[in-house]
Amino acid sequence: MTTGTYNNTHEAARDARPPRPHEDFAFTAANVEEAARIIACYPAGREHSAIMPLLWLAQYQMADATGQAWLPIPVIEYVARQVTMPFIRAYEVASFYTMFNLEPVGQHHVMVCGTTPCWLNGSDEVFRACRDHGLRKGEITNGGAFTLTEVECLGACVNAPMAQVNDDYYEDLDYARTRALLAALERGERPTVGPQDGRQFSAPAGGATTLLEGAQV
Ligand code: FES
Repeated sequence: MTTGTYNNTHEAARDARPPRPHEDFAFTAANVEEAARIIACYPAGREHSAIMPLLWLAQYQMADATGQAWLPIPVIEYVARQVTMPFIRAYEVASFYTMFNLEPVGQHHVMVCGTTPCWLNGSDEVFRACRDHGLRKGEITNGGAFTLTEVECLGACVNAPMAQVNDDYYEDLDYARTRALLAALERGERPTVGPQDGRQFSAPAGGATTLLEGAQV
């Protein structure tokens, strides 16, 4: 009798839990194969090292399945099980890196760098352009089109200020270029990635200053 009461109470408590979206998440057949390939890249016993690429794979699958690239708790739990890692350690990884989203994001995740080189070169204007376009930090705005996040250095300081949109870098931004970029994305276009001021990669912004003879031949 005691066991039955316990079970009834336990089941009632379980049924009263808030629903957990994506509790039944599992890799697709293609991603099962890809996960196995990734895990096999690491020595036996070092499967934990695959946690980042597997979380990344799961986030891509979420984007494909729901249109929102993020990692709900059950998805992180699933990925942790794939590499026999305690959930909390997988969560620590997912919550440390801004490349992993713990909340749903808009179709275009706009990550603006606010670290010192970008800040000194005008990231405030990039944020102002985002604000004027309706974007708000940490919110899904513009009918699901955007989420704005401020991030730390993304390693493109020589082209500061810059922003990453999903997997693409847009560099040498200013107010007008940022507004144009957001408008193009909203129209469904994919603007040319990289520098937005016409320079090639990270070539000097004002043109070549050395090896001029060779350049003039
Ligand atoms: S400081 Fe912005 S990319 Fe490095």
